[in-house]
Amino acid sequence: MSSSKLSAAAFLLLLSPIGAFGYTKNYTGDGAPIAPLSPPYFPSPVTSGAGDWADAYVKARNFVDQLTLLEKVNLTTGTGWGQDHCVGNVGTIPRLNFPSLCLQDSPLGVRMGTYASAFSSGMNVAATWDRGLMYKRGYDMGAEFKGKGANIALGPVAGPLGRHSEGGRNWEGFSVDPWLTGVGMWETVKGMQDAGVIATAKHFIGNEQEHFRQSGESNSFGTHEPVLQAISSNIDDRTMHEMYLWPFADAVRAGVGAIMCSYQQINNSYGCQNSHLLNGLLKDELKFEGFVMSDWGAHHSGVDSGLAGLDMSMPGDYTFGSGTSWWGGNLTTAVLNGSFPEWRLDDMATRIMAAYFKVGQDPETYPETNFDSWTTSDYGYLHNQVQLGWGLVNKHVNVMGDHHIGIREVGAKSTVLLKNVDGVLPLGGQRQIGIFGSDAGESPLGPNGCSDRSCNKGTLAMGWGSGTANFPYLITPLEAIKARAIQDGTVVQSVLDDYAYAQINSTALQASVCLAFVNSDAGEGYVSVDGNEGDRNNLTLWNNGETLIANVAANCNNTVVIIHAAGTVLVESFVDHPNVTAIIWAGLPGQESGNALVDVLYGAVNPSGKLPFTMAKTREDYGTDILYEPNGLIPQENFTEGLFLDYRHFDKASIEPRYEFGFGLSYTTFAYSNLTIKKVSNSTYTPMTGFTAGIPESNKTLGSPSDYTFPEGLVKASKFIYPYLDNATAIPSDSTYEAPEGAYDTSPQPIPAAGGAPGGNPSLYDVIYEVSATISNTGSRGGEEVAQLYISTGLEDDPVNVLRGFEKVSIPVGQSTTVTMHLNNRDLARWDTVKGDWVVLDIERTVKVGSSSRKLPLSATLA
Ligand SMILES: *[C@@H]1O[C@H](CO)[C@@H](O)[C@H](O)[C@H]1NC(C)=O
Ligand SMILES: *[C@@H]1O[C@H](CO)[C@@H](O)[C@H](O)[C@H]1NC(C)=O
Ligand SMILES: *[C@@H]1O[C@H](CO)[C@@H](O)[C@H](O)[C@H]1NC(C)=O
Ligand SMILES: *[C@@H]1O[C@H](CO)[C@@H](O)[C@H](O)[C@H]1NC(C)=O
Ligand SMILES: *[C@@H]1O[C@H](CO)[C@@H](O)[C@H](O)[C@H]1NC(C)=O
Ligand SMILES: *[C@@H]1O[C@H](CO)[C@@H](O)[C@H](O)[C@H]1NC(C)=O
Ligand SMILES: *[C@@H]1O[C@H](CO)[C@@H](O)[C@H](O)[C@H]1NC(C)=O
Ligand SMILES: *[C@@H]1O[C@H](CO)[C@@H](O)[C@H](O)[C@H]1NC(C)=O
Ligand SMILES: *[C@@H]1O[C@H](CO)[C@@H](O)[C@H](O)[C@H]1NC(C)=O
Ligand SMILES: *[C@@H]1O[C@H](CO)[C@@H](O)[C@H](O)[C@H]1NC(C)=O
Ligand SMILES: *[C@@H]1O[C@H](CO)[C@@H](O)[C@H](O)[C@H]1NC(C)=O
Repeated sequence: MSSSKLSAAAFLLLLSPIGAFGYTKNYTGDGAPIAPLSPPYFPSPVTSGAGDWADAYVKARNFVDQLTLLEKVNLTTGTGWGQDHCVGNVGTIPRLNFPSLCLQDSPLGVRMGTYASAFSSGMNVAATWDRGLMYKRGYDMGAEFKGKGANIALGPVAGPLGRHSEGGRNWEGFSVDPWLTGVGMWETVKGMQDAGVIATAKHFIGNEQEHFRQSGESNSFGTHEPVLQAISSNIDDRTMHEMYLWPFADAVRAGVGAIMCSYQQINNSYGCQNSHLLNGLLKDELKFEGFVMSDWGAHHSGVDSGLAGLDMSMPGDYTFGSGTSWWGGNLTTAVLNGSFPEWRLDDMATRIMAAYFKVGQDPETYPETNFDSWTTSDYGYLHNQVQLGWGLVNKHVNVMGDHHIGIREVGAKSTVLLKNVDGVLPLGGQRQIGIFGSDAGESPLGPNGCSDRSCNKGTLAMGWGSGTANFPYLITPLEAIKARAIQDGTVVQSVLDDYAYAQINSTALQASVCLAFVNSDAGEGYVSVDGNEGDRNNLTLWNNGETLIANVAANCNNTVVIIHAAGTVLVESFVDHPNVTAIIWAGLPGQESGNALVDVLYGAVNPSGKLPFTMAKTREDYGTDILYEPNGLIPQENFTEGLFLDYRHFDKASIEPRYEFGFGLSYTTFAYSNLTIKKVSNSTYTPMTGFTAGIPESNKTLGSPSDYTFPEGLVKASKFIYPYLDNATAIPSDSTYEAPEGAYDTSPQPIPAAGGAPGGNPSLYDVIYEVSATISNTGSRGGEEVAQLYISTGLEDDPVNVLRGFEKVSIPVGQSTTVTMHLNNRDLARWDTVKGDWVVLDIERTVKVGSSSRKLPLSATLA
């Protein structure tokens, strides 16, 4: 057998930069050198069972020890898009009766499923600011994935964080604030994994816009100049740590089993082969013990991506349906010829199996996959991509349980009451309700009428793209309001045609209250809806919502505007209209949309949702915007605003928002008093020292290439990705491949100062202060309030205020409750780019507590 390394050419076919070094050429299309470059980070850290991974790690090691090279490759490589029943499947290990791992979208339910729930969006659960509901939603979703026999659920989302209000996929994640998103990640991961499914924190990292996230996709729309490669999100070290990486650290600390690397480049190195991010930040500094999978088609190199820290190729083929793979047989080749160390492959397989065992999966007890992503019929192709085989593919197992209860509760408790003049809400016994706008009713095409929700017709309850699920049913506002109104003998008239102004006018004139429904949609970049290529083209309303509101309000002195939206919208055209008495932001609430809204409209639930982003008066006020036109053949987006996103930007630039981050009204009122700060520990942040154990060399004899060819008698499915060599002479004998420096180094490596345990240096999480405040319900109804804690350092390069705690409490009329929040070292720390470590400066800070980022009546000095 030749010991030479696989030629570089074999692995660099598809215009693929050597991610380890960032892009190695100077080509930007305009002759300018590309800056910045992502630095190399090698070798790839091996998992060692740190923290609460110890048991899972031992099981995984024992399992992987039994595997052959081909079997290990099978675990790491998808079988190809549409070749199995899930959106991703890896190969099987028939010898050990180990089935294919099934990977399935989405962050709000089982995508393409039947008899499964359509949960509220991540953005909505963030707007509840309710940890219990975040956990419950995660748990209920996890139970549904498990019931369908999906091993790995592709959520939750912390990237996009929401740098751009127009960003197509913001709603899949939680909030533009990293601290709030971190809580969302923690609770969702815990919930999903407690239910037995492996959660996937995605997209790692800097995936902040849909435009140019993939070159082929962007070029296919043809509405802008073609690009050569995906956009590069250029993010400096401090911004990376304090903004984008922060919620991923929470996910890792919560024990997340999988991380999905993103399509676009970060500092000019593709997300799935960026060694600084995968080897460095994720596996070394955050000590992530699970596995990294590529986003679907984000895999762009063979040996390099593996050395840089990628563990699983999804969906396994180069491009959907290509029938070829960077891995599969090519990974086998690379191990055999020595260009890919077997210890790295062992680590990849061990990480995958450790995640599997950590959440308690077991081939004996875990449900078999019983659904199909490519048809809702009972029978379908076994390999849909190539239309081969036929069999029972959908057993239609009903996994919905009582999850509608939680979905309705999240829907109601995420509803943000923005305006409510003279207490027009909750609705008392109305004489006549007028309901206006297509957003109030069902889509004429049905709630699932457009695949992946790729149209905006009827009431909007989720965005579009892979982050969706089929609605098992969708309760519209219209039907829920009618069902409730009958109790009071109220007449309900509705005009759902957004443009039937004559009928809208005359109906509005008769009503005692008019409900105007408007929306704004967004989604993933592979679909363009009304010219919006994932990202929204504007922050105004769709379907001429502003005109609808203007007509209703001109004829009705009690107009309530209800907004379903994928994020913020501009409300300036109607917010001060004297006849617009109330405004509600309901986000994307999922299948129980109408019921949740009625709970709030009629006061069964006192609204307690708070905005997880700022609502600005103009789009420009945000200071960041999508790059809609490429600024080079490899578009460059410098994240120059750094830490100053959303409210931090508005505070710094003294811009008055329309409704600030954290804002939301209630039907009652709350008063804040009695801020108390107690130092509970003298622990100081202590940098980690020492070395890793080093990597044991594998001593297995690999045999000869002829042992790795397709087994005789195997009936190959066309375009299916296998681990085998095409022929025994597939090993190139000459070598021009040069591995990145240090990539094969198995010696002990220094532990990063900021590392040491899953989530990073454990002393970051030592609680130092306990902050408490008293909240009194001073109104006339029981209600829930979200107390928010912000910290101010007063330093020039720090935001005026940063969120560092919140607590949601339920308080009966006339009563008071004390909320307690904790500040740990991380909450007080800043990233020092020179030290490459966290530091907790010895400075005076101000702690502020209140009901929103701009209503902070309590403050005290933190000495
Ligand atoms: C880019 O590289 C080419 C050749 O690789 C060289 O001729 C050219 O001067 C370089 N341009 C810059 C701006 O470095
Ligand atoms: C991004 O920043 C680099 C410096 O790091 C600069 O050279 C480049 O021109 C900037 N690109 C854009 C599009 O602003
Ligand atoms: C790899 O997975 C494929 C697809 O499930 C299977 O046919 C094959 O037998 C597996 N190979 C080995 C060596 O286990
Ligand atoms: C391996 O890579 C080569 C070159 O990139 C490609 O032509 C071939 O199809 C790949 N093999 C498999 C089995 O995917
Ligand atoms: C509806 O009412 C508005 C405000 O009175 C008016 O401007 C508009 O012309 C009316 N439209 C129709 C079709 O009657
Ligand atoms: C904003 O985008 C929506 C959806 O494409 C469109 O209906 C609307 O007309 C746009 N608004 C403006 C002001 O262009
Ligand atoms: C408010 O509604 C009343 C009808 O109830 C209408 O007469 C009045 O003109 C409206 N006001 C405005 C500013 O449109
Ligand atoms: C709207 O107009 C009616 C009739 O003039 C009046 O009784 C009612 O109080 C007004 N409602 C509001 C909210 O101003
Ligand atoms: C003030 O807060 C302290 C500490 O949480 C608590 O013990 C005390 O009862 C509170 N006082 C009032 C008046 O709420
Ligand atoms: C911190 O140290 C001081 C001085 O040694 C001691 O008085 C105090 O009790 C300590 N505080 C805590 C919370 O341990
Ligand atoms: C491989 O062999 C060496 C030398 O015989 C030995 O020191 C080492 O422990 C072995 N490694 C493993 C993983 O068995």
